[in-house]
Amino acid sequence: HKEPVQPAGGFQFDGAFGTWDVAQLQRGYQVYKEVCAACHAMDYVAFRNLAELGYSEAQVKAEAATWQVPGVDPNTGEATMRPATATDYFPSPYPNNVAAAAANNNAIPPNLSLITKARNNGSNYVYSLLAGYADPTTYRNEDGAVFAEAAPGSMPGTGLYFNPYFENLNIAMAPPLTTTGQVTYADGTEATIPQMSADVAAFLTWTAEPRMIVRKQTGWWVIAFTLFATILAWFAKKQVWSGVK
Ligand code: HEM
Repeated sequence: HKEPVQPAGGFQFDGAFGTWDVAQLQRGYQVYKEVCAACHAMDYVAFRNLAELGYSEAQVKAEAATWQVPGVDPNTGEATMRPATATDYFPSPYPNNVAAAAANNNAIPPNLSLITKARNNGSNYVYSLLAGYADPTTYRNEDGAVFAEAAPGSMPGTGLYFNPYFENLNIAMAPPLTTTGQVTYADGTEATIPQMSADVAAFLTWTAEPRMIVRKQTGWWVIAFTLFATILAWFAKKQVWSGVK
């Protein structure tokens, strides 16, 4: 398979001085909600975590209430669906893995909370996977080789989809992002396939490591303090030993 590529311009969180592009994370959440959540869950992300993306407490509660999660009917005690609250976690659209596999050609859509950590070069990988579906019969890799020959599983009739970035080139996930304008961004950004792919990849980077930027910035303070302490120790040493000939 091909190595993941960066979205045009890279990600703002990349590098030692990286920061979150909060507007992008909000767009990525919208893509997750309107597209990915039809098949995937995020078991480790709670609605209350959205407060970190710049939403007020009231907005988080209202947003949570637009989702349905499994609950229990207080009168009958029977299982039913109820609107989510801020402390609920992002649900799976399927009642269990058997149902999930049955709906997806025997593949279970993975929990996406940590997917950018579970794959090498995860942020770029998710971007490349989503934006990189290709026609196996006409697709050429960098050396001009025909991918289809290396990917017999992508022949018609398997129900799998050819994707040069997926491990064995044949993925059970149909291309989820297929048209410009598939979502309508509130901030007016044009929702091209690469744009939506980069936005949701950024969002899934945040879900996997919400403290990434704090971690990077802490690193700079650690270096600064270590330098300061080293210089201090140097002068202290000179002073302590100044009387010794
Ligand atoms: C797998 C992301 C939408 C069904 C995956 C993987 C990622 C992903 C990162 C893992 C690939 C790997 O194992 O390396 C997304 C994103 C979506 C989205 C970001 C929204 C933009 C959907 C939708 C469906 C779906 C709408 C169902 C119609 C699946 C299935 C797999 C999968 C069945 C397992 C594929 C396999 O193992 O062959 N998805 N997905 N996904 N996704 Fe999605």
